[in-house]
Amino acid sequence: MPGYISSEKISEIQRLTNIVEVINRYVNLKRSGRNYIGLCPFHTEKTPSFSVSPEKQLYKCFGCGEGGTVFTFLMKKEGFSFPETVKLLAERARVDLPKQSSKESKGENRTLLYDVNKLAAEFFHKHLLGSGGKAAREYLYGRGIKESSINRFRIGYAPESWDSVIRLAQAKGISHSSLQGAGLIVAKDGGQGFYDRFRNRLMFPITDHLARVVGFGGRSMSGSEGSEPKYINSPETILFSKGRCLYGLDTARPSILKDRKALIMEGYTDVIMAHQEGISNTVGVLGTALTVEHIRLLRQWTPEVVLVLDGDAAGKKSSDRSLDILVEEEIEAKVVQLPEANDPCDFILREGADKFMELVEEALDFFSFKMQMAEAKRDLSSPSGKLAAIRELLYTVLRIPNELRQQLIIKNIAEKMSVEEETLRRELGRLKFSGAPRTADVGVHVKAVFDADYRAEKELLSLLLSHNELIEEFESEIGPEAFESQSLKEIACKALEIYRANGHVTEVDLVQFFVEGEPAKALADITLEDKKGDYHELFATWIHYIKRREEKKKIGYTRKRIGNLDGNQKKEEARLLMEFHEKAKLTHLPQKRTR
Ligand code: CTP
Ligand code: MN
Repeated sequence: MPGYISSEKISEIQRLTNIVEVINRYVNLKRSGRNYIGLCPFHTEKTPSFSVSPEKQLYKCFGCGEGGTVFTFLMKKEGFSFPETVKLLAERARVDLPKQSSKESKGENRTLLYDVNKLAAEFFHKHLLGSGGKAAREYLYGRGIKESSINRFRIGYAPESWDSVIRLAQAKGISHSSLQGAGLIVAKDGGQGFYDRFRNRLMFPITDHLARVVGFGGRSMSGSEGSEPKYINSPETILFSKGRCLYGLDTARPSILKDRKALIMEGYTDVIMAHQEGISNTVGVLGTALTVEHIRLLRQWTPEVVLVLDGDAAGKKSSDRSLDILVEEEIEAKVVQLPEANDPCDFILREGADKFMELVEEALDFFSFKMQMAEAKRDLSSPSGKLAAIRELLYTVLRIPNELRQQLIIKNIAEKMSVEEETLRRELGRLKFSGAPRTADVGVHVKAVFDADYRAEKELLSLLLSHNELIEEFESEIGPEAFESQSLKEIACKALEIYRANGHVTEVDLVQFFVEGEPAKALADITLEDKKGDYHELFATWIHYIKRREEKKKIGYTRKRIGNLDGNQKKEEARLLMEFHEKAKLTHLPQKRTR
């Protein structure tokens, strides 16, 4: 995450900062026992009631009640944002902040690069819509991509010229080094000067989850026979890395949250077509293998992913590798394989979205898929073929961090391959010690609260603090009791308490109550949250997410109670079933397909 500062860094900065020295620049402080006192800078007074504790690293005014940490002091006094304050104090304390600050000094300012990318994206987009973009537009229409998609995904066209971006930048006073930093131009071989990277190509801007343009994919419009590559992508830059971006994530995010499921496809055109045809919980991996970062990114929003693989051999192979990551990362993963020679874009165009969704409904869970792959690749009637297949599966089993889950899968394989479970277990044990490939940090990702849940609650709380007018609705809809994270619940309760007392509450009011431990970390998470997008919409999304989760929990209880009844309790069973269905109705969303 750009500009993200960990809570460890923040406490380090706090430790290395002397609050007395900082505040002394604003207030004339005098020693008084263990503390320092002075005239409060936040209200007018004649006798000092403002006190600073060097031990606790806190200040407090006994006159007006103001109090907090060195961070809150500067925020209040100077009007800095929390990240600004952190940066300032970090510099003072000589604490190195991750990447950002050092890169900035090299002129690779992230903010600037976002702006440069945005400018270029708009330039390409306008060009596509203008007279020079006619052929490119026709190409898109010819492939079934509609105007609405061109707009939604800001598709563009890079003119056939060696310097159109260079000239655009010149007119706007943007340096070559910024353009190069954004990956938009390439240094000429040997000699001096630069040329545009993308020429005569359809341009797909790649955005991050906050809709900031981080890079581009450029597709050639000549057939694949052409000598030039079909796609040219942005190189790795400080904003862009293929293994860390998911195409369409910002557009897909609301649907992913609502459906609690994300579809992962391989290409730009696949994602665009899926969205166009109403399948809007779809993202793309841009032709690379699925990475741990991809999954961690998605896991913030959803507990389940469905990989949709092209129906060609390459698809099968890449899926094979990708899946092992899914096993390690504790996410529910399913796989859809399209029929021969189809990618999702082709399939949806030819067969329609409903047919496509049928395939998604029938997706195999990852281990069934693995087994199918193992079977397809080998002759299971020969002992050596069978052994090889089993070994391959067991290597994947080894990567499952959860032992119970391992056992369940073993059982499954044993049935499928008709071998004794015990034999498999022994074989697994043997592989464990013969250096099976597995990653180092297996098992550390299991958390008490699921990432997506924490994320939902964190963002919701953050919205409440920046838009107090939402608090009433929050209380009537769910209230802090619905929070799963203990720390966030504590903070939310405190926030409501302050709100009720003062009629308003901000992060600054809270910092003094949570200066250490888990809640302090959670509060730092909240205050450092990037706040972008329509907050009403975000608010509604998070409320819906949490409400739906709560309903699902209740359904779970009811189902359990039905399961516990004995045969004579027919009446009770009928009643509980009614209750069950009522609840299920609540969580069922109207299908949101726009076509
Ligand atoms: N890709 C790439 N470079 C290539 C080929 C492919 O980066 N030379 C990436 C692109 O992100 C592409 C994805 O892999 O979207 C899938 O490749 P492919 O299926 O060949 O392209 P499509 O997106 O399906 O494009 P089209 O529908 O135009 O064939
Ligand atoms: Mn494709």
